[in-house]
Amino acid sequence: MSYTNSREKFEQVFRETVVPAIMEDVKKTGIDQKAYDWLEQAVLHNTIGGKYNRGMTVPDSLRILKCNTAEEIKDADLTEDEYKLSSILGWCTELLQAMFLVADDIMDASITRRGHPCWYRMEGVGMVAINDSFILGAVIFNVLKRFFRQESYYVDLLELFHETSFQTELGQLLDLITAPEDKVHLDNFNLNKYSFIVRYKTAYYSFYLPVALAMYQAGVATEQNLKEAMTVLIPLGEYFQVQDDFLDCFGVDIGKIGTDIQDNKCGWLINKALEIVGKDSEHRKILDENYGKKDAECEKKVKAVYNELKLEQIYHDYEKAKVEELEALIKQCSPLNQEVFNKFLSKIAYRKK
Ligand code: FPP
Ligand code: MG
Repeated sequence: MSYTNSREKFEQVFRETVVPAIMEDVKKTGIDQKAYDWLEQAVLHNTIGGKYNRGMTVPDSLRILKCNTAEEIKDADLTEDEYKLSSILGWCTELLQAMFLVADDIMDASITRRGHPCWYRMEGVGMVAINDSFILGAVIFNVLKRFFRQESYYVDLLELFHETSFQTELGQLLDLITAPEDKVHLDNFNLNKYSFIVRYKTAYYSFYLPVALAMYQAGVATEQNLKEAMTVLIPLGEYFQVQDDFLDCFGVDIGKIGTDIQDNKCGWLINKALEIVGKDSEHRKILDENYGKKDAECEKKVKAVYNELKLEQIYHDYEKAKVEELEALIKQCSPLNQEVFNKFLSKIAYRKK
């Protein structure tokens, strides 16, 4: 049997193993049926229906990391048990993301997520969603306890989830106070802050966490391997976010309409533009007067500046240099790590959506 992974197969582990485990712990408390049903809905609404890129990375990486040599990889498979356990860790990353997104959508006053109303905007939910966000975070530790308490790396898993949450919360903090929706002040922005925000808010939990989890499960989480994962995956995550910011403005047919300019987002394009135009230029004045305004005409003027600065070309140059830099970093890693990281890079490099 050769290895296959799919959203359906991954989702099955959630429905058949993870959700029942979470709900059994809730049932044991003897809590009222309405609260029990509420929680089940909160869990399902905020986890099912994503792309599961982060979660599915755990079994996909484990399959590679359990090999002894790169030659073994093409025939390598996971046992049913290995697939199930690594998918449970994958679902813990999806639950962590669910906690963040429920809270983030309230903070951002977002309307929809994954094509459905945000949880806090569902009938009768409102600010109860804040508490639901905390519960989504708490159940991660119930799941870890149930399935990993006997493993030698249990404490490492606990620390990893705590540290990753903290990193993401720090990134969120800097993002929130750097780009408040209502107060536009471009002096707040710079590329250094941008880099901190995206590494902390996105890269740790989206790129490093799933691979580090697979390393623990494979029994290869040496200091050296974790360091290689960090060295490659954090800049890779930053590159991914730069792509996202670029596509928000210049993407064609990406399935969504970009709102970063009107939303006063501290994105890559505005930071790059600010770096180029300097403190007191005509371009800077236009950016000051039009960025972060909920007005299509203002947005057009910002985009006109981006075009005059040839930001599209600057991005393509950045991208080429970044991919080469990442390839060079990956070449310095151990053979199996190279396989894991290259898979990531090839999925992302030069993406158009
Ligand atoms: C989405 O970013 C935001 C995150 C992935 C991180 C949010 C982190 C928190 C809310 C910390 C919460 C902590 C607790 C304890 C509840 P975005 O708004 O840039 O992306 P989007 O377009 O997907 O919303
Ligand atoms: Mg948001």
